[in-house]
Amino acid sequence: MNHFSKTAIQSWERFYRANFINCLSGFKSATLIGTINKENKTNLAIFSNIVHIGAAPALIGFINRPTDAAPHTIKNIEATGFYSMNHIHSSFIKKAHQTSAKYAEGESEFEKAGLAIEWKENIGVPFVAESRIKYLMELTEIVPIKHNGSFLVIGAIQDVFVDETLIDKDGFLHIEKACSITSLGIDGYYETSLKARYKYAKPGIATEAIK
Ligand SMILES: Cc1cc2nc3c(=O)[nH]c(=O)nc-3n(C[C@H](O)[C@H](O)[C@H](O)COP(=O)(O)O)c2cc1C
Repeated sequence: MNHFSKTAIQSWERFYRANFINCLSGFKSATLIGTINKENKTNLAIFSNIVHIGAAPALIGFINRPTDAAPHTIKNIEATGFYSMNHIHSSFIKKAHQTSAKYAEGESEFEKAGLAIEWKENIGVPFVAESRIKYLMELTEIVPIKHNGSFLVIGAIQDVFVDETLIDKDGFLHIEKACSITSLGIDGYYETSLKARYKYAKPGIATEAIK
């Protein structure tokens, strides 16, 4: 096994280091975030640093890089307080990846990447029509991360749109049946399959598979 020290890693070429470090923390929940700006122009961007923060209240966070690198989503969320989160499926990975390009403010990635906008009744932010699992978020808090200028954007889940066929009897969501993809690093995408589910683990008792 190779050993790479912090000093060695710091000496690597920028893009090599970024690839290596971005892969190290593992597979991620690549998701498309849909917003509108103050002029009602739509915006869509792919984000993969997404984290479950709590179920009651239902909170999800994502990391937004410094605003000079990724300006529009966070600015729109601050302005309107709302955003949509949309799963990416195998059928439109290339289009989802295209939304990471640095389009000018006011240029809609929906149009540029060729993804359809879906408007929901009484909701002011756009959803991705092609996505089979999507939800509306209301901004709760933006936590600046002093060490590198990025932000943890925390939102509360408001409305969820999902096919009934994907929901198990105990609430488990079979996102693999919708072909929701997972990502690695900044350019790798994977399909998934369920290996097993296990009962709540307790000390001294061997857990059993959930059938
Ligand atoms: C697979 C993938 C994952 C990404 N994840 C993030 C992320 O978690 N946070 C982030 O700030 N940018 C991430 N990006 C980069 C943004 O998609 C990119 O900066 C985009 O232009 C931001 O758009 P915006 O300015 O409209 O918000 C990712 C890009 C790719 C290809």
